[in-house]
Amino acid sequence: MIRKCLFPAAGYGTRFLPATKAMPKEMLPIVNKPLIQYAVEEARDAGLQQMAIVTGRGKRALEDHFDISFELEHQIRGTDKEKFLAGTRELIDTCSFSYTRQVEMKGLGHAILSGRSLIGDEPFAVVLADDLCLNLEGDGVLAQMLKLYAQYRCSIVAIQEVPREQTQKYGVIAGEQIREGLYRVDSMVEKPLPEEAPSNLAIIGRYILTPDIFDLIADTEPGKGGEIQITDALMKQARNGCVLAYKFKGRRFDCGSAKGYVEATNFCFEHLHQSDL
Ligand code: UTP
Repeated sequence: MIRKCLFPAAGYGTRFLPATKAMPKEMLPIVNKPLIQYAVEEARDAGLQQMAIVTGRGKRALEDHFDISFELEHQIRGTDKEKFLAGTRELIDTCSFSYTRQVEMKGLGHAILSGRSLIGDEPFAVVLADDLCLNLEGDGVLAQMLKLYAQYRCSIVAIQEVPREQTQKYGVIAGEQIREGLYRVDSMVEKPLPEEAPSNLAIIGRYILTPDIFDLIADTEPGKGGEIQITDALMKQARNGCVLAYKFKGRRFDCGSAKGYVEATNFCFEHLHQSDL
């Protein structure tokens, strides 16, 4: 079964400058918790314990976040502030964290390939922390996808319907619906113009990947934007065998954009955090 989750977190976060000049985008807080912690919690809640994070230059705060801060813990021990660190401490105690660096930012596909040594030859999950996914009604998105993986044993991408005029921001799939909300992918295009998009079903930042994806990425030439695109490698996988696309239950916020970030903050303040503040 799946044990590991990869978090590509090496991107420059240019849409969020100047905040991301010296700080990783994944450390931006939604209310009082950084995006990367929401992502790790989603993976942990899905039963995964081995967290593999692909970082880059200027991203050391990510490693420090998932480490013990003795001075700080000593300082707040026995006070009512202890509860603010309890969730982070629990992750540190129950999960393992490993890191590798993507030394050149050549795209998401390349970032995933950079994580190969941390994953090895087994299926794994991928979470993009800047896509915050929340489901107040039940399982998180990754848990929903892992249940499907147990049944179908192939790569799965999470999708959502987007307005046609936004297809240029996403990888877009088309395929045959095999049951409610589940498609067998037969075409996948990275950032298509609305008139060229095969549908309005956009891939968002959650994937389950089988390990043959690594060789397929290694054989993938740079595509749209000169980057090595995971969608191009997934399209090869779909042609060779099967890739599924799953319309998940829950809400997704694009926290790499100011609008999505503000929406996520308001949503979390209203629904999640009252007891912690
Ligand atoms: P994005 O394109 O949303 O992130 O990549 P970005 O490049 O950081 O942001 P902008 O567009 O400049 O504002 C999606 C995810 O893939 C990771 C990013 O960290 C983000 O989580 N990524 C992207 C990498 O790890 N390496 C890359 O070379 C590119």
